[in-house]
Amino acid sequence: MQPMELLRELSDAFGVSGFEDEVREILRARVSPFVDSVTVDPLGNLIALRKGKDSRVLMLDAHMDEVGFIVKWVDDKGYVRFAPLGGWDERIIGGHRVVLRTRAGKKRLGVIGSAPPHILSAEERAKPIPIDKMFVDVGATSRQEASDLGVEIGDPFTIHYPFGEIAEGYVTGKALDDRAGCAVLIETARRLAEEELPMTTAFSFAFGEELGLRGATTAAFRIDPAFALAVEGTIGADMPGIAEENQPTRLGRGPAVSVADRSIVVSPKVVRALEKIADENGIPYQYKLPTYGSTDAGAIHLTRGGVLSGIVSVPCRFIHSPVSTLRMNDFENTIRLVTSFVRSLPKSVL
Ligand code: CO
Repeated sequence: MQPMELLRELSDAFGVSGFEDEVREILRARVSPFVDSVTVDPLGNLIALRKGKDSRVLMLDAHMDEVGFIVKWVDDKGYVRFAPLGGWDERIIGGHRVVLRTRAGKKRLGVIGSAPPHILSAEERAKPIPIDKMFVDVGATSRQEASDLGVEIGDPFTIHYPFGEIAEGYVTGKALDDRAGCAVLIETARRLAEEELPMTTAFSFAFGEELGLRGATTAAFRIDPAFALAVEGTIGADMPGIAEENQPTRLGRGPAVSVADRSIVVSPKVVRALEKIADENGIPYQYKLPTYGSTDAGAIHLTRGGVLSGIVSVPCRFIHSPVSTLRMNDFENTIRLVTSFVRSLPKSVL
């Protein structure tokens, strides 16, 4: 499978935080040929293990969940009220089409409705609508009709834009944060499949990162790694109106090496090792400017007696909004950096 097709398959898969089963099964199928064992922990993390020369474990982490919403109420006219799962920019979620998954596993369409501007006062038009005033129109005229369509309290849904190529090598999808990281892990497993790994390697696909690094917390305890690398789809902000010093990463400049975010200050030893591997292999890279966002590395490095951890990210624009974009050359260079880094262990950092 071509890397872009893998990215398409993963971005289009359903996987709202806490409801990751569909994306998990795809990841299981994609990673299985390249590893010795695959397990799912009680909370839903998918952990694929491949034995290496050194029995100490390298944990490669990517989170498989995406931000979404959960049905909190269906009113007697059939309109659905909802709460966010993960951090959305609430100003821009109105007027989008959603895909809701019912308890029976059916996908249903809906629309996050908003009152037409014609009937709003000038004051109302100027103000964003708070999320608790928004609703989804699922095409029902009563609570019973919504229920007949399969729509119930607790159902997950998300805004769904199918994956596509905007310009050559420049793609858009709904869940590049962090299916880009998941795809990097799959590609890393595939490209290293024919060689002996220097360390036993756990490819860990975490649930619930967007709810507060939940999956990585238990996965890291279970895996008990000697070193961990989180791979993210992170904030690309090279766009009009944002000063350069406030752009956490920029598209087209290669993988972003984190020095610090809100959840971790990365050991300089790890940052230097990643720089060295990138330089030696002619891979362009940039720093993710401190200290924006949190990552699974924040949870992993505080596990047990402490785990030396780093973060490498694919820059993605517009994450935590209805659509995101990335450049395929950044994605490819991230795979190259992670692959080269795996080969360099344990000597490079341990
Ligand atoms: Co993320």
